[in-house]
Amino acid sequence: MIVTAAELFKVAYGKFAVGAYNINNMEQTHGLFRGGIQSQSPFIIQISKGARKYADKRMLEAMIRAAEAIYPEAVFVVHLDHGDEETCYDCIDSGFYSSVMIDASHEPFEKNVEITRRVVERAHAKGVSVEAELGMLGGVEEDVKVEEGHACLTDPEQAKEFVRLTGCDSLACAIGTSHGAYKFKGKQSIRFDVLEKIQKNLPGFPLVMHGSSSVPKSEIMRINAAGGKLDPSACGVDDNEYLPAAKLGVTKINIDTDGRLVWTRVHREYLRDHPEEFDFRGPGRVFMTEYANFIASRSEKLGSANTLSEVRNSILELRKNKAA
Ligand code: G3H
Ligand code: 13P
Ligand code: ZN
Repeated sequence: MIVTAAELFKVAYGKFAVGAYNINNMEQTHGLFRGGIQSQSPFIIQISKGARKYADKRMLEAMIRAAEAIYPEAVFVVHLDHGDEETCYDCIDSGFYSSVMIDASHEPFEKNVEITRRVVERAHAKGVSVEAELGMLGGVEEDVKVEEGHACLTDPEQAKEFVRLTGCDSLACAIGTSHGAYKFKGKQSIRFDVLEKIQKNLPGFPLVMHGSSSVPKSEIMRINAAGGKLDPSACGVDDNEYLPAAKLGVTKINIDTDGRLVWTRVHREYLRDHPEEFDFRGPGRVFMTEYANFIASRSEKLGSANTLSEVRNSILELRKNKAA
């Protein structure tokens, strides 16, 4: 069942966070749906501009529609990750996406408001939810690389004003995380002090945390032991901080890098251990199982495990009341 982010956030807010995972191919798609069902958790499928270019947007849509039929129990959002205005309109007009992110966070405040406002109007007219971003994370996303010195945390006062002016449904906040595998030097922690202030200014409003991969040390070590050359200083978000963040209004937690690490570890180890094989279905099968297990482990950390039937029933109830 495809739901909007706004519907899902109404049920989850303050209790648990929903994992948002990027997909690019068939193996990730199977793994994600299986992991969601295995842990009885809703999830958010994220599609980046890069993924739309890599796989073709029609291939991704067809794959998700197929997965919906294969796994009818799943409850999920189809979301555009880090969209520009043009891509947001393409997704809204497609009638397939139930949520888009307009990322104009690199623009000055007024311009960010102006662009986001336009996207919100067009999206809401079609019942599509909008995530916007204020503040700037460090790291690389799409074609934009934000040098560490230029990353800036979300200003809690501005956040309140931004939501009021734009009418967005959720707000991605910069609270100390960054995209990719190298998030923290020294102390590893989300800026809970900033998050608390944002929530105080926006009580009940869904917040989003990007750059939330946990980058497990064990994964880095296994990849390097199997021939990889990742920098051992790689460091992510402590996954024991997901739930405390959820209690402070973070309702969507974005995880992509960790899935890439699972993929890299599985394929490096498989090819190392089976040098005589050349059937890609061997490592593909292992990856789907490992990725499903990984998603299920995230659901536990996010507090979303075993909420599936409650979420489905609550959303159906919400829809019934809205129609009445
Ligand atoms: O924040 C970006 C996500 O990790 C997606 O990455 O743009 O390389 O598909 P991508
Ligand atoms: P990670 O790089 O921490 O997985 O973050 C992903 C993300 O924020 C996608 O929008
Ligand atoms: Zn992101």
